[in-house]
Amino acid sequence: MNYRHEFHAGNFADVLKHAVLVRTLLYLRRKDKPFRVIDTHAGAGLYDLSAPEAVRSGEARDGILRLLEGVDAGAAAELLAPYLDAVRAAQIDAFEPPRLYPGSPLIAQSLLRPQDRALFCELLPEAAQALRRTLGRDARVKPVEIDGYAGLKAYMPPKERRGVVLIDPPFERRDEYERLFDAVVAAMRKWPTGVFIVWQPVKEPEIAGAFCRALAARTKDWLRIELQVETPAPGRPLARTGLMVVNPPYVLAQEMKIVLPALARILARGPGSEFLVESGAAGDPSA
Ligand SMILES: C[S@@+](CC[C@H](N)C(=O)[O-])C[C@H]1O[C@@H](n2cnc3c(N)ncnc32)[C@H](O)[C@@H]1O
Repeated sequence: MNYRHEFHAGNFADVLKHAVLVRTLLYLRRKDKPFRVIDTHAGAGLYDLSAPEAVRSGEARDGILRLLEGVDAGAAAELLAPYLDAVRAAQIDAFEPPRLYPGSPLIAQSLLRPQDRALFCELLPEAAQALRRTLGRDARVKPVEIDGYAGLKAYMPPKERRGVVLIDPPFERRDEYERLFDAVVAAMRKWPTGVFIVWQPVKEPEIAGAFCRALAARTKDWLRIELQVETPAPGRPLARTGLMVVNPPYVLAQEMKIVLPALARILARGPGSEFLVESGAAGDPSA
């Protein structure tokens, strides 16, 4: 495993993923009934944006830091506010420029109520250790050093009917798409009421599209979201990212139609910035 999220924390892909995670958790919080969060590739939970890895990549500068400066008033700002609040809450000094970026586990933990529970799987021992430190003593959360797909199999279904699974793999292995697809389909079968958020880098649009179509064919309800920050070109950093959401909250598509144009405008690195929001039922050819 070579992947280190320290280089990428707070980039445009994290912004999209975490904004969607927060909107989903806020939706789940509308009812008192408990919900469960399962994060299969959890990471360290907190990242230092002044560390050499983050400074060298500059990805957070073009992501969360740009969003914090550039977001203005309006409907998109209102929808993004709870996510940005979670980022601000992770700072040690609220009056200094943001230096820390919360990963998905810390963001999820900040939105759990006393009745909710979360499971965080992370395979890399150093990241898993950092995650335990970041989460602290909290009976609601369970960090586990385990392969995320094995965790998904072992802990599925949770006792709660409601909840969300975030699947955010590093896409280092050639067979990642196959493992991911099989794991999600099996988990959807065991927990048909859960929301599944699957992240992917969109490096080869045909492969990303085929994955979305295959997943869409297995469910009645899906939402496909993509954000591109410049025209992709060989040798350039990742320029497009996507999420496939199975069983999305019914408000999410409408919210993303408001949020995505703002993200595409504020996070544009060059010409060709655009977005996609599609939703549908099983077998819909527009997927
Ligand atoms: C993209 S990062 C996760 C970021 C995190 N979800 C967030 O949003 O803050 C992917 C993480 O998966 C971990 N990882 C890699 N292979 C894994 C596996 N098979 N099971 C669980 N974790 C894995 C990596 O160490 C890395 O921390």
